[in-house]
Amino acid sequence: MTTPTVMPDPSLEALWMPFTANKAFKARPRMLVGARDMFYRADDGRQILDGVAGLWCVNAGHCRPQIADAIAAAARTLDYAPGFQMGHPSSFALANKLVEILPKGIGHVFFSNSGSEAVDTALKIALAYHRANGEPERVRFVGRLRGYHGVGFGGISVGGIDFNKKAYAAQLLPQVDHLPHTHDPARNTFVQGQPWKGAELADDLERIVAERGAGTIAAVIVEPVAGSTGVLVPPVGYLERLRAICDKHGILLIFDEVITGFGRLGAPFAAQHFGVTPDMMTLAKGITNGAAPLAATCVRDRIYETVLASSERGIEFFHGYTYSGHPLAAAAGLATLDLYANEGLFARAAQLAPIWEEALHGLKDAPYVIDIRNLGLVGGIELEPREGAPGTRAFDAFVAAFHEEDVMIRVTADIIALSPPLIISEAQIEDLMGRVRRVLERVK
Ligand SMILES: Cc1ncc(COP(=O)(O)O)c(C=O)c1O
Repeated sequence: MTTPTVMPDPSLEALWMPFTANKAFKARPRMLVGARDMFYRADDGRQILDGVAGLWCVNAGHCRPQIADAIAAAARTLDYAPGFQMGHPSSFALANKLVEILPKGIGHVFFSNSGSEAVDTALKIALAYHRANGEPERVRFVGRLRGYHGVGFGGISVGGIDFNKKAYAAQLLPQVDHLPHTHDPARNTFVQGQPWKGAELADDLERIVAERGAGTIAAVIVEPVAGSTGVLVPPVGYLERLRAICDKHGILLIFDEVITGFGRLGAPFAAQHFGVTPDMMTLAKGITNGAAPLAATCVRDRIYETVLASSERGIEFFHGYTYSGHPLAAAAGLATLDLYANEGLFARAAQLAPIWEEALHGLKDAPYVIDIRNLGLVGGIELEPREGAPGTRAFDAFVAAFHEEDVMIRVTADIIALSPPLIISEAQIEDLMGRVRRVLERVK
């Protein structure tokens, strides 16, 4: 597909956009000016169907008045309160409310502002815990290839995406190993739900343990379902196996649930969906329905208690952010959790999942589709790459989707990822898939 040549708008020049092809965007912008429920409004007035909940975060749909009102009320009552050596009620209330829906035993919550910060916080907690527990030599981290854990130095080090590390490779965390990813197209294509084959890929952790020594490894971090690198669903038994190996060797298991949390898979968290409880969970995005920056690192009680016991008096954990548990974000979080509960949105996602699965896999015969993957209300559609130009076909699909079919999708390499707000209707699921099909018929 050829992009018309348009002179860049000079008023767009000052902003350096994140994870964006800045020059291409400024030559042909995609500008959003409003949103409501399942739709964005573009600056030319078009209604854009949101197929990705913004960026995997707007699980209850856009501009929900309850959340907006809670943020406005907080802004008028207590605009800011320092979180260091001071408290304010809504951050405590939100921590308590979160604990109610977290897996049993994960009873403590540390707030930050983004998934990246939640991940770096988890890595620091792992080190602090082992030190407090009398095993200070446990310092290594194990991540997984194709894992995305944000953009902090910790997150990109344990992450498994070369593009995100290339420019910074000289200064990554030094003691990190990676498990293989779980995507195995030779054995698993067009699988509905979890692939049956591949649980043994978790055994690679035993190889790392044998090579490094169990007593040197602090934690393993994985996304239960890898989202950003194209919806990689874990094989049946894989997460259970990781859990067992971690237990055997005293290694902490961290689930990065920034995407899989808050009903995306039809349960509050992936931990409950898969029946595997990690030692720590990182949350963000859906925690405020995307309406305010907030993230959380949630830990087992034993971790919190051990770190607190390590210091007789004074600060036990030297870490925190100016905006940890910010009053506006905490208010947004409280209103969001109420909304999820009142509207039964997690159960709704579970109910819609089979309908979603069928509609998504209905795209099997659409042009260029070489694989489709799904779980809960997440879908990945992998396209055949263009010869010598990987990623360009999916990117053209993304642009065509916005400009020609009025739908927002997300692409990574040659994979389209879909993750709509959990309020999507059955008719809108059909509509979304119809638009995606037409997009694929447009791209060459
Ligand atoms: C699994 C996972 N972890 C961490 C992050 C980073 O979150 P943030 O962009 O809020 O820093 C993301 C963002 O997409 C993510 O998907």
